[in-house]
Amino acid sequence: MSKIIDGKQIAKNIRMELKEEITDLKEEGRAPGLTVVMVGNNPASETYVSMKEKAALEIGMNSSLIKKEEDISEKELLDLIDDLNNDPDVDGILVQLPLPDHIEEKKVIESIVPDKDVDGFHPINTGRLFSGQEDALRYEACTPLGIIRLLEREGIEIDGKNATIVGRSNIVGKPVAHLLLERHATVTICHSHTKDLKAETKRADIVVAAVGRPEMITGDMIKEGAVVIDVGINRVDGKLLGDVEFDTAKEAASKITPVPGGVGPMTIAMLMENTVKSRKYHGV
Ligand code: GUN
Repeated sequence: MSKIIDGKQIAKNIRMELKEEITDLKEEGRAPGLTVVMVGNNPASETYVSMKEKAALEIGMNSSLIKKEEDISEKELLDLIDDLNNDPDVDGILVQLPLPDHIEEKKVIESIVPDKDVDGFHPINTGRLFSGQEDALRYEACTPLGIIRLLEREGIEIDGKNATIVGRSNIVGKPVAHLLLERHATVTICHSHTKDLKAETKRADIVVAAVGRPEMITGDMIKEGAVVIDVGINRVDGKLLGDVEFDTAKEAASKITPVPGGVGPMTIAMLMENTVKSRKYHGV
């Protein structure tokens, strides 16, 4: 197997597997339905939203995109979400972030019924993750879940390994720590107050870089043979750079994700996976 983890190919394989599942679900009576809500016209959001829609349609999902003007009131948006919450054809609701300043994001996220929160951002879903509840329906945020799937598909052992995460965000660092912990890794979370970052990364078997600082993790910070997962997407002089200095880190790592083409494509595949999971939960 190659040293470079091909997230694009792995994500494609997963989407093709989901396509087959969706064929069966359709025969059973209903395709999964995903509704993406976008407010305003942030160009980055436009790109993400169209990629999500394309992926959903390609695998036979019912996908709809609801675009609202920048000046939509919070009340109107909450009413729209309420309608989607009650629509039996909608299995997954995703409100693309960021939202305009006059709308409270937290309020909007919390207005989505947890069993349609395919982004895994609702506090009920993060709470289920953080308290280790696996029995209830639980959605895991797409990027952290995508990282786990990459490790699984590459046959990388997690149990008993030292995993160091650089970054403590609510959408990547914290949830991926819990997913790794659940799989019996010894987890360290580093952040801006960490005294000796290199010492922490250097003893890790798995390094997850999710800080949003271009090429901050260099090869000398990586233990020989470690697995390096780069979540960063930093645009520098028109080029996309990860949080890891790829060329130097590649020398030390046994496996490493590139940017782009590593974690990024997995995020969308996991949104599809969560929506299929929701459809199975909701039935026909
Ligand atoms: N904006 C950037 N990434 C995401 C995401 O994963 N989900 C949502 N809802 N908004 C985003």
